[in-house]
Amino acid sequence: MSEINRTSAWSALKAHAEEVGKRHLREMFHDAPDRFQTFRREAAGLTLDLSKQRWEQDTVDRLLELAEQAEVPEAIRRLLAGEKVNISEDRPALHTALRLPEDASLVVEGEDLVPGVHATLARMDAMVERFLSGQWRGATGKPIRDVVNLGVGGSDLGPLMVTNALVDRRPDASHPVEVHFASTMDGSQLAEYLARFNPETTLFVLSSKSFTTIDTLSNATTARDWLLARLNGVSREEGVDRSLVMRQHFIGISASPDKMAEWGISSDHQLEFWEWVGGRYSLWGGIGLPIALVIGMDGFRELLAGAHAMDRHFQTAPLADNLPVMLALAGIWNNNFLDIRAHSILPYDGRLEYFAAYLEQLEMESNGKSVTNKGEAVEYSTCPVLWGQLGPNAQHAFYQLLHQGTQAVECDFIAPLSRYDDVTDSATRAHLMSQHRLTLANCFAQSRVLMLGDDAIDDEGPRPGHMRYRGNQPSTTLLLERLTPATLGALIALYEHKVFVQATIWGINPFDQWGVELGKKIANETRDIIEKREGVEAMDASTRGLIEAAWRTSDQ
Ligand code: F6P
Repeated sequence: MSEINRTSAWSALKAHAEEVGKRHLREMFHDAPDRFQTFRREAAGLTLDLSKQRWEQDTVDRLLELAEQAEVPEAIRRLLAGEKVNISEDRPALHTALRLPEDASLVVEGEDLVPGVHATLARMDAMVERFLSGQWRGATGKPIRDVVNLGVGGSDLGPLMVTNALVDRRPDASHPVEVHFASTMDGSQLAEYLARFNPETTLFVLSSKSFTTIDTLSNATTARDWLLARLNGVSREEGVDRSLVMRQHFIGISASPDKMAEWGISSDHQLEFWEWVGGRYSLWGGIGLPIALVIGMDGFRELLAGAHAMDRHFQTAPLADNLPVMLALAGIWNNNFLDIRAHSILPYDGRLEYFAAYLEQLEMESNGKSVTNKGEAVEYSTCPVLWGQLGPNAQHAFYQLLHQGTQAVECDFIAPLSRYDDVTDSATRAHLMSQHRLTLANCFAQSRVLMLGDDAIDDEGPRPGHMRYRGNQPSTTLLLERLTPATLGALIALYEHKVFVQATIWGINPFDQWGVELGKKIANETRDIIEKREGVEAMDASTRGLIEAAWRTSDQ
């Protein structure tokens, strides 16, 4: 394939954008009242409304041609077949293998990966069962109550986001555990837990694909010494020795069993995963243990099944009906042809509080690249700046900019259609269902105002400039029938595949992240200078000034 911006489809879209770019969404709706039917797509319990994108059927046809010229169908086949799509690291990207059903098979380089995947799920199952039945006991014999996940990035955001989204799906258990997350290297989250939790009933899950991440290891060391200092010799007559504490209070999840063992995680409390699972794509296996502890293993399997349903759809649906492909094309259209380089994620459901944070890593760490797979500088923009917040809260924060700022922003509105109909108390149910309708009304109203601008209101009188809304802001609305493990699994897989399709069109590798490495190296060098108080003279003036300020403070 030649560079995508040298294809005939790209040139045709450039010319087409000159025309369509002049049109306002309100005219498009006026001219084609059936836009919702035309641009709605459904799969795996999700409805995607792309009618508020600033495009027409012609545009979509041209974008589909672009996808063909970028060889998207072949790329999908290669991804799902386990070919080495992660070019710079010379390996496949097989997060989809983690959600294959047990009776499937996926042979990569002569080995069927499915039995190993399900063996890990079976080990997770046994661990979850031990916790939820009160059989996982701390070193002094008390059942574990608090589980703290120590991890960062992909070893934190996926489990954090999903456990929050599905916290109301807790199964009945004789000993439910509370799951907590500590990610920051400054220890602020951890310090708060250490001040509150009982060491006898607290267990730490060390989640780190590489098992070298300083953020996680520094939290882990603090946690280990806290446990050892408090549990040695506590309560049991025979005393508590170090190896028992290490064994009963730590689980490790990593692609590096050697490093886990070296750190002191006992081999039967390790969950291993594979190099072919990227960190930000890893919640579907061992890294998902905190999720399984909250929603139970049945719930976790439902999550996998939902993602698998989206994988099957991605694999088999024609491009024009394929949700991840269509979502990706909307982004390409905005970014590369309408020059809209900001993208906001706006869930209208408090349970999706961390969804935007999760997508920030998924999208920007995957596609925040400026060099093609051939090692050349890209000549077009790739991943937009993507950020978000719960929609109802963002309405009172940054929607001002969405409606009246100088910067155009593409928005994704996300909401479940049904909620609260299972609340047992009828008066509370009525209130909460009414709150849900209020939330949906706000969600739909915001995308309408963004689209129509002033035309969304009836009064025609002239209004001063500061009260005008220009409208014509593109958005996508994604509806879930309801928020369940299955629909959430499908939603996450939808975005994973969208990212892959966009990367394919841009000709970049979404599965590496070299852009984070230099910062880690320089941070280590800077740390040495701060600790040893040597070498500051080699720093630039700003960094030197900052380091000296830190020294002065610690000297006081
Ligand atoms: O520094 C970025 C990163 O490597 C992410 O890609 C990853 O999800 C995160 O750090 C944590 O890495 P690990 O799971 O190896 O600790």
